[in-house]
Amino acid sequence: MERIILLGPPGSGKGTQAELLEKNRNFICLSTGDLLREEIKKESEFGKNVKHYLDNGLLVPDEIITEFILETIEKNRFFEKKVVFDGFPRRVSQADALNKKLAEFSSSIDSTILIKLDKEEIIKRLTGRLVCPECKKVYPASHSEICDNCGAKLVKRTDDNEEVIKKRINVYNEETAPLIEYFNKLGKLIEIDGNGSIEEVHNKIVEVINKQ
Ligand code: AP5
Repeated sequence: MERIILLGPPGSGKGTQAELLEKNRNFICLSTGDLLREEIKKESEFGKNVKHYLDNGLLVPDEIITEFILETIEKNRFFEKKVVFDGFPRRVSQADALNKKLAEFSSSIDSTILIKLDKEEIIKRLTGRLVCPECKKVYPASHSEICDNCGAKLVKRTDDNEEVIKKRINVYNEETAPLIEYFNKLGKLIEIDGNGSIEEVHNKIVEVINKQ
């Protein structure tokens, strides 16, 4: 498989699994959330425009995000590389735009892997999540407060409070979940259970990739 989308509710483990695919299977990870947070940190004009949406658990409007991501794909020639998409598409309109852009280069998405997880576990994971402000590595609540990778002090994401997490889950159900049917109809949807250890979920994904 060359190009995979990781789909799933907030906190289902998309970022964690994308990072493992990058490390163990030579995928390039395109994380929309990380790209947006980087722009916010740089205080670029783009970052200033999107901050409000991230802080409030809302999706950034298509007219802001879609072109930004499609340009990133084209500039880096991701259409001909092994890429895992984490966080894009999140609306049917974004999926249509992505498919169209890839088709321009005779490329396509091979599979969409849906990581399923219930609300209770999502809230538990996200209220405890720690992230490295420097290298972006993500850790569970049980980790010490220092990044293994670069030694920076770990922080919490501004949108990881219970109120915003619940909002993000609602936004996922309303705006992103229709993509499940969308990719199912295209015969490109594979569902996996997001419960179990990080390693166990990774093994399930690798099994799926190896079968294709
Ligand atoms: P984004 O950063 O993509 O957030 P998200 O989709 O809400 O996903 P998360 O990063 O919260 O969770 P995850 O599934 O990656 O889980 P993780 O691996 O970290 O997007 C943020 C915002 O940007 C959006 O709200 C929106 O505003 C905007 N945005 C982004 N893309 C957009 C788009 N296309 N269009 C419009 N707006 C867009 O894991 C969570 C925690 O659980 C971690 O602590 C981890 O260590 C732990 N964990 C992971 N797996 C396991 C496991 N198996 N067992 C135990 N713990 C685990």
